[in-house]
Amino acid sequence: MSLASPAPAATPVRAARPRATGSAVGTLEAARARSREIEEQVAAKPEGFRVLTGERPTGALHIGHYFGTLANRVRLQQQGVELFLILADYQVITDRDETGDLRGTVREILLDYLAVGMDPDRTTVFTHSAVPALNQLLLPFLSLVSVAELERNPTVKAETAATGERAMSGLMLTYPVHQAADILFCHGNLVPVGQDQLPHLEMTRTIARRFNQRYAAAAPYFPEPDALLAHAPTILGSDGTKMSKSRGNTLPLGASADETARWVRRARTDGERTITYDPDARPEVANLLTIASSCTGRSPEEVADEVGAAGAGRLKGLVTEALVEHLRPVRARRAALAAGDGPDVLDILARGNARANEIADRTLEDVRDRMGMAYRGR
Ligand code: TRP
Repeated sequence: MSLASPAPAATPVRAARPRATGSAVGTLEAARARSREIEEQVAAKPEGFRVLTGERPTGALHIGHYFGTLANRVRLQQQGVELFLILADYQVITDRDETGDLRGTVREILLDYLAVGMDPDRTTVFTHSAVPALNQLLLPFLSLVSVAELERNPTVKAETAATGERAMSGLMLTYPVHQAADILFCHGNLVPVGQDQLPHLEMTRTIARRFNQRYAAAAPYFPEPDALLAHAPTILGSDGTKMSKSRGNTLPLGASADETARWVRRARTDGERTITYDPDARPEVANLLTIASSCTGRSPEEVADEVGAAGAGRLKGLVTEALVEHLRPVRARRAALAAGDGPDVLDILARGNARANEIADRTLEDVRDRMGMAYRGR
C-alpha cells in the first residue's frame, strides 16, 4: 500500500453492512456475519486491508492470547495483510496507578510476538507513548463525541466496575477515543477484536464518519474500520475464571514443559468421573477439552469421547502432552531469542516506532490541513 496516499485506493468494495438491530444479540450476530464476509474479502484481496490491533503491556502473553488472537494475527500476516501492533502503554494506567516494569514487560511481549511468528518486516510493532502525533489526534477526536456517548460505553462501565471502588478517571472514560486514534492514524480498516471491544470499534467508526463529514466532505479521509471477530474459543485460567495475570491463573507462552504440566495439574475439574463436553454445566472440564482441541485440531467432543470413563487424570495427561507438543517450536524460538540468539527485540521496536511516527506525522499534518491549521504554507 502506498503510504503517500492514505485514502486507500485499495480499499475493498464494501458489501452492504447489516444494520445493528438494537438488541445486543442481534448486533453480535450482525458483527459475526460481517466478520465472515470480511474473511472472504481478505482471502480475495489481502492488500486492501491494513490491520491494527494490540494490547496493554501488563504482562507476558499467555495461551489465552495465543489461541484467542495471536494465531489469528499470524494467519492474517501469512495471507498477505499488513499489520500494525500497538503496545498501548498509556492504557496500562486506565485501571491502576502504576505503570510497573514497562520496559521489561514490553520486551517479554516482543519475544512472544516473534516466537509465534510475527515478522517485523511485514508487521509494525510500536509503543503508544512513542508516537506523539498519534496522541495529538486525540484532541480533535474528543471534540467529535459527547460526554453522554462516552458514559454510555458498556465496556468502559464494566471495566470501571471491575476496579472496585475506584473513581473513573478521565483517561478511563476517554480511552475508546484513544483507540480511535490508534486505529485511524495508520488508516487501519480492519481490527481483530474480542466481543468486549465492539463498542469501541463502533466509536471509532463514529469518529471517522464525523471527521469526514465535518472536515473532508468532498473526499472522505478516514476509513470506517470493521471489526474482525475472533472465532476462537475463550480459554479460561486454571481456576476456571478469565485468564488474567492478576489472578495468577495463566499459563504464559514461554512456560517450560514442567511448568505446563504443573499448570494443568492445578487446573480445576469437577466431581463427575466420566469426561463429557458440556461448556454450560461443566466449564472447567470443557476448558481443558477446548485446549486439547485447539492444539490438535480435533473437536472437543471427540477428545471427550476418547477419554470418557478414564476421567480427569487421563484428560490432564492428554492436555499436557498436547500443549507441550503444540507449543514446542514457539517455546524453542522464544528461548533462543531471549538468550540473545537473533535480533535484539528492542531494536525491532525502535524500527516499528520510527515507521509509526512517519505515518502518524503525515496523518496529523493531513488532519491539521483539513481543519484549517496548516500555517506554514506548503
Ligand atoms: N484495549 C485493548 C486491550 O486491552 C488494547 C488496544 C489499544 C487496542 N488500542 C487498540 C486494540 C486499538 C485494538 C485497537 O486489549
